[in-house]
Amino acid sequence: MESKEIITHSAAETQQVGEQLAQRLPKGTVILLDGDLGAGKTTFTKGLATGLGIKQLVRSPTFTIMREYHDGRLPLYHMDAYRLENGGGADLGLEEYFDSDGVLVIEWSQWIADLLPADYLRVSLKRADQEDEATRTVTLTAHGTLFVQLVATLKRPADE
Ligand SMILES: Nc1ncnc2c1ncn2[C@@H]1O[C@H](COP(=O)(O)OP(=O)(O)OP(=O)(O)O)[C@@H](O)[C@H]1O
Ligand SMILES: [Mg+2]
Repeated sequence: MESKEIITHSAAETQQVGEQLAQRLPKGTVILLDGDLGAGKTTFTKGLATGLGIKQLVRSPTFTIMREYHDGRLPLYHMDAYRLENGGGADLGLEEYFDSDGVLVIEWSQWIADLLPADYLRVSLKRADQEDEATRTVTLTAHGTLFVQLVATLKRPADE
């Protein structure tokens, strides 16, 4: 399991990590996005959208389960599984999105843990501590073999 920690010091840097990643993602990519309230999940997803060339405004999909953006290099499917706490994930036809023409981002993936594909990226966002408002640890982990190289060669914002 290849894993990399990137410290970001602003929302812009977190977006930059997402943007850099998105430029290299193949179609059919599944990304699980973890993090507490305000950790930066939507911020990171905005970066992904930018990296895919999407100009539409990215908003949280909480009340819709899925938002789709089709104006980029690849479509972006942004899913929030929060409301699937009591099941129902199996009825969504997720397999179709796992092997899709685009990039699928899933928040609250713990509710559909038993439905996940073999290859996926996990992106976890964490605040450094209470005092520091603008520092986040972004941890990217490749599950399966497909994304190992990608994670290994991802640059930290300061390296660019
Ligand atoms: N290093 C950083 N990375 C990401 N966001 C940061 C950072 N520093 C400060 N922020 C701010 O933290 C907030 C993150 O909000 P965002 O909506 O992305 O979080 P979220 O995880 O989607 O929250 P929610 O669970 O409520 O949807 C934004 O206001 C952003 O400007
Ligand atoms: Mg959000």
